[in-house]
Formats: sequence, structure tokens, C-alpha cells
Amino acid sequence: MSTTTEGMSEKLREYMLSVSVRESETLEKLRHETSMMQNSNMQISPEQGQFMNFLVKLTGARNTLEVGVFTGYSTLWTAMALPDDGRIVACDISRDWTDIARKYWRMAGVEERIDLRLAPAEETLRALIDSGMEGTFDFAFIDADKNLYDIYYELCLALIEKGGLIVLDNVFKHGKVVDDEADDPGTFAIKELNKKIKTDNRVDISMIPVSDGLTLVRKR
Ligand SMILES: C[S@@+](CC[C@H](N)C(=O)[O-])C[C@H]1O[C@@H](n2cnc3c(N)ncnc32)[C@H](O)[C@@H]1O
Repeated sequence: MSTTTEGMSEKLREYMLSVSVRESETLEKLRHETSMMQNSNMQISPEQGQFMNFLVKLTGARNTLEVGVFTGYSTLWTAMALPDDGRIVACDISRDWTDIARKYWRMAGVEERIDLRLAPAEETLRALIDSGMEGTFDFAFIDADKNLYDIYYELCLALIEKGGLIVLDNVFKHGKVVDDEADDPGTFAIKELNKKIKTDNRVDISMIPVSDGLTLVRKR
């Protein structure tokens, strides 16, 4: 989540969006409807959505995971990058927010690519492992409750194949990762996970300053 890119001047960001972001009418309408909601800042930015769409196409991903759907904006960017037989297992716990998501997925003609699981994501991911799907996914996006990020990271790492990609959102925690006073559990969890991934020899990594910081993780 982060509807903008941290640390970039508004003027430069406006320029970047104007010359590079190609947002479809449905994505734009969904972003507009979400912007009227109280929790609108949970949505990812258009530049991040397009970047993820680009990554999905670049890697040729077909079987993907999404942890944290909200009103479905990131899911829609991903779904639009998939081939017709591509699939997203999308995890969330809110029926109200995902009802909005489903309306726009239908409008964009990609609803059948999205398998929405309304349950705590940890349960859904463990159930996928228990059903023998370890190593069968090629892309995962993690953007849910920060306290559980390490668990989501480990479960997604088990579920993706060698060479598969995980994108972790909010790794800057809106700048709080460099604020010594910030001691909320979410920031602590992100800081610990950032440190852990730095030396995790199961993966290749790149942390990039798009939106609220993304870590790209490639499974070795
Ligand atoms: C930051 S929002 C996701 C934003 C979304 N990626 C987008 O671009 O609009 C986080 C979402 O995680 C969901 N969530 C929180 N705790 C969860 C859990 N334990 N399991 C699954 N989803 C959870 C919330 O309901 C919320 O929709």
C-alpha cells in the first residue's frame, strides 16, 4: 500500500505518471472509487501497479499468489498481465472490500482468472502447501498485515518454484524503518524481515524505491 512514491517530489511524480503510466479506464475507475473510501491509502500506486504488471509479463508468470487484495487494484494490474489460462490465488479476509474488487475484475473481463479465498492468508497458504502445491507458483505479491510478513514470506517461498519471484510491499514502512522512535509491531516486523532477507542465501534480492519500497526476491 501507498498511493504515491515516497521521497519523490509531487511535480516529478506527476511528470513520471504523465509520460509513463498507461492505466486502463477500469483501473482508473477502481482507483477513483477507492479514493473516496476511508482506507484509500492502502491501495498501491499506479506506477507500482504498472511495474508489477510489467514484471508478470517479463517473467511469463501464469500461477500467481496475492496476499492482501483490498478493493482489488493490484490484483487487477496482475490479472491483466496474465495469459488467458493464468491464475491468481488472491487472499483477503474482507468480504466488503473484495466485493468492490470483484465488480471491477468482472468489468475488466478477468474475473475468472482470480480465485479469491476469504480466510486468513496464513491458512490459505498453508492449505495450498498441504494440497501439494509447493513449488508450483511463479509470482507472489505480499501486501497484507505487516506483523505476519515473515510467515507470508516463508510460505510464499515454499509455494513458488525455483526462479519464481516474490514482491514484498511497504519495506520502507513510510520511512519508519529509519526512525529509531518507531516501535510499533508492524515496523519492527518489517525491519527484522529486511535484515533477514539481506543474508538469506536461498534468494537473490533487489530493494527498489517504488511507492513505499518494494523488495524483489528471486528464489534460487
Ligand atoms: C494494504 S491492503 C492491500 C492493498 C491491495 N494490494 C491494493 O493494491 O489495493 C491490505 C489487505 O490485507 C487484508 N488483510 C489483513 N489481514 C489479513 C489476513 N490475516 N489475511 C488475509 N488478508 C488480510 C486486509 O483486509 C486488506 O484488504
